[in-house]
Amino acid sequence: MRVNVNSVRQMKSRGEKVVMLTCYDYSTARILDDAGIPLLLVGDSLGMVMLGYDSTIPVTMDEMLHHTKAVARGAKSAMVVADMPFMTYQVSKKEALRNAARFIQEAGAQAVKVEGGANIAETVEKITENGIPVMGHLGLTPQYINQLGGYRIQGKTPDKALKLYNDCLAIEKAGAFALVLETVPAPLAEFISRKLEIPTIGIGAGAGCDGQVQVINDLLGSFTDFVPKHARRYASLAEITTQAVSSYKQDVCSGAFPGPANSFDMDEAVFEEFTRSVECG
Ligand code: KIV
Repeated sequence: MRVNVNSVRQMKSRGEKVVMLTCYDYSTARILDDAGIPLLLVGDSLGMVMLGYDSTIPVTMDEMLHHTKAVARGAKSAMVVADMPFMTYQVSKKEALRNAARFIQEAGAQAVKVEGGANIAETVEKITENGIPVMGHLGLTPQYINQLGGYRIQGKTPDKALKLYNDCLAIEKAGAFALVLETVPAPLAEFISRKLEIPTIGIGAGAGCDGQVQVINDLLGSFTDFVPKHARRYASLAEITTQAVSSYKQDVCSGAFPGPANSFDMDEAVFEEFTRSVECG
């Protein structure tokens, strides 16, 4: 059975960590699904790691839908959560609902994720009361980067910590089933996680969260522009890929590739008949 909002809530009540990874394509979705990763986030971080933008701001609905469809085709058991891009849920509740519905109806996701607190609580309420599960995202919210003035740790002063805490409560009250906490001091994230009934999923928010999420490219070492402090590398795909493509290049240049195993034979008599017909005009 596919992971759903109830199973995610039960993970928290059973003390089981909620594991989420970003995913942007079909092949990776198949691998992560088979590996038992319960939540796949089609994050708007794809703007950076897949499309080469310098932030998540330029990511469009069309781009998100395109990648979400691919992930949804590959995920058989995992819950697919799609990020709603910048300005697709802020203008009006009606527009937010319509855009959220596209991720479920057209792209095959099971939930959407939105960034913000009390300022978007009514929107979260509108989307959830119409049957679309919503994951919140607070702390460092990359879609607010121009307002935040940089990718900094959030909630560092008593006032800011209190605002963040109240925003988390507002998102829970609005009906979100889980909440991403990004780049928040560990003691504050742990406090919030204890106070909330819904699971928190941390990224750069310490081990006290109810779960963790990472950008798959950081984990696999396939994105080399920068490595965030909160990421841990479990593989070095960039190096492995460089070695593989260099060997391929060498083999093509030397004639070692393709070999007989990679080529297709032709019946000798058929080939002879063909060459005769060419030569005889
Ligand atoms: O877009 C994304 O990948 C995210 C995660 C960092 C939580 O929102």
